[in-house]
Amino acid sequence: MNASDSLESKSVLIVGLGMIGGSIARGLRKAHKNIEIKACDRDLSSLQDAESEAAINGHGSLKELCPEADLVICCLPPLSLIESLKDISQLVKPGTTVTDVASVKTEIARKLAEIGGDFSKHFVPGHPIAGSEQSGYKAAIDDLFQDRNVILTPGPEVNGQALSLVNELWRSLGANILGMSVERHDQVLAATSHLPHLLAFGIVDSLVKQEMSDDIFRYAAGGFADFSRLASSDPKMWSDIFVSNSVATEKVLDDYIENLIVLKKAITEKNQTYLFNVFSNANATRDNFINTHYKPIIKDELEKMNVTFEVEPGGKISGKIRVPGDKSISHRSIIFASLAEGVTKVSGFLEGEDALNTLSAFREMGVNIVGPENGELTIFGVGMHGLKAPRKPLYMGNSGTAMRLLAGLLSAQQFDSELSGDESLENRPMNRIANPLREMGADIETDENGTPPLKIKGSSLTSIEYKMPMASAQVKSAVLLAGMYAEGITRVEEPATCRDHTERMLAGFSYPVIQNSDTGSSELQGGLSLSATDIDIPADISSAAFFLVAASISPGSELELSHVGVNPTRIGIINLLKLMGADIEVCNERLVGGEPVADLKVRHSQLRGIEIPEQEIPLAIDEFPVLLVAAACAEGETVVRGAEELRVKESDRLDAMAVGLKTLGVEVEEYEDGIRIQGGVIGGGEIDSHGDHRIAMAFAVAGLRASSKIQIRNCANVATSFPGFVDLARNAGIKISSGRD
Ligand code: S3P
Repeated sequence: MNASDSLESKSVLIVGLGMIGGSIARGLRKAHKNIEIKACDRDLSSLQDAESEAAINGHGSLKELCPEADLVICCLPPLSLIESLKDISQLVKPGTTVTDVASVKTEIARKLAEIGGDFSKHFVPGHPIAGSEQSGYKAAIDDLFQDRNVILTPGPEVNGQALSLVNELWRSLGANILGMSVERHDQVLAATSHLPHLLAFGIVDSLVKQEMSDDIFRYAAGGFADFSRLASSDPKMWSDIFVSNSVATEKVLDDYIENLIVLKKAITEKNQTYLFNVFSNANATRDNFINTHYKPIIKDELEKMNVTFEVEPGGKISGKIRVPGDKSISHRSIIFASLAEGVTKVSGFLEGEDALNTLSAFREMGVNIVGPENGELTIFGVGMHGLKAPRKPLYMGNSGTAMRLLAGLLSAQQFDSELSGDESLENRPMNRIANPLREMGADIETDENGTPPLKIKGSSLTSIEYKMPMASAQVKSAVLLAGMYAEGITRVEEPATCRDHTERMLAGFSYPVIQNSDTGSSELQGGLSLSATDIDIPADISSAAFFLVAASISPGSELELSHVGVNPTRIGIINLLKLMGADIEVCNERLVGGEPVADLKVRHSQLRGIEIPEQEIPLAIDEFPVLLVAAACAEGETVVRGAEELRVKESDRLDAMAVGLKTLGVEVEEYEDGIRIQGGVIGGGEIDSHGDHRIAMAFAVAGLRASSKIQIRNCANVATSFPGFVDLARNAGIKISSGRD
């Protein structure tokens, strides 16, 4: 966006100067002293108040003000907005960006489709999730939107500049910008906002009709005041909302009425157990909502919440399953789609915490992303130079991939940034990327141990030829991302083949990369651009690996894993299990968006111990925890050497596996760079996963062959890569349950 496109230089018109419109005016004035803000409203005194305090520069009619505006912000109740849209569309000049704040989106989208043309392409539907039961300009506050969410619901046809301008508007008011489809928005809001308002209005209405209503209100106290607060909301606004979101609200209301009838029956029958259970669940759910969603998330508190898996011994694996999307490809889809010109649609996206943190980071840098909804995202690329300075440190959670790739990208921006992570990530080595990036001219500060947080000052970079000391796709990708901004050709050479999703995805976005398999190098020219493309993310072979091993080790098992990514740089786990005698069939191999995909059929077979060939290690780097469980179930010994990289993953995986397997009675010898495991009988016991998702899931698989129960502590991070693991594992045949400590 160049200077003339920026909000500062625009003439803004606010239509409807109530609490939301007024708060936008006051907030915008605070953020941009000189911006021109005009307003229309039926209430002259609001306009005069706003003008006298200089929140607006002037007021008038729609007819007078629409033609002069560059950005029109409609802050009207939904039905009033729908009625006015046609007039506004005829009054504004072509290319004017128009947005709204309404709590209902489907009916507005329908009206826009009716109006069509250029106007509807420049209309960016928005909804700030902020406000209170108060209404009118007097209730407006300048920081109403600070740290609050705003949902935008643009379709892929929406004009990119209009979208950027509306993004900038909410950014300057301090809001976090989310994206949803119109339909999802109305369903979600019906449940979370519209239903509670209806109940508040409804309870006051029904009490007022009671004979003793005077007494009811005289003696009512805090409980009634809390519950009925929402009934003080603006009646015009809320009647508009229910009329225009009737379908979605009717549905949640039906469910609620059904539930009320059951509760009434429990009261009639004096069924205290039922009531107690319902109230306990509701109580815990609300506490969880307040702690994890409503309050800003406090990292330490989150880390304290712990999950334990309990796995009963035995079982066999069967069925046909699809595991969630590939984590490496999910991260990269957000990064490259954000930097592309145009709109990218992603399907199969992994809705795990790691990839969601990457998504939030790009939203924080001004990228509009709709979704995820059932693994689908629409990403409105901002181009190679379109990212905005993050307003706060970017939290990468548990993800080394996200932190390292973003470090490469952020080193080359025009702004400064900071990357932070959870306790595990804060202990992971970052000099492996900081050193080559510094050679390119990057200004990156780590703490004294070379660990996060990373403080990055935006710099101009020069290209580099870099021989990596370790086979790391993260390091390679960080350098290539930086190289895209450096003058000349950046070339990275790997000592052994490691995953090439970055190169494949760059090619998919039409950014040329030369890969040379003889020299193990990848190179690209800086300064080119990416064009948007659609991405279908395959299921993650690293998640499939748990089930490949589970079915291999449990007699009578037969399982099909569908649509699994089988990129040759990731199939070490299949190669190694086959070497151990596993019965795995790779079927229907096909290419999906540049990545090979297949269905995998696996049956039980007796495994035997092997010496792991060193060149396979980077190709199975994330699968070692579960591979070592396979080794513990195999006949004979399995030896791994040259695998020191396993010590710097989410935990020290050599140590975590050695200690855990020993606890289960397995004979294990640990080396500095590897491990030896003597296959045999597996017992039960209590395991610490050290907060490492893959250690937790590996020991869950071990339960299939254990002689007694295995308890696995510290499993909350399974959600980083494999949301829904427990349910999927249970359905497939692992006797697993999960509880919070
Ligand atoms: C990843 C690369 C691997 C892997 C990690 C994801 C990636 O790390 O362990 O889970 O997406 O590039 P290294 O490249 O550091 O070995």
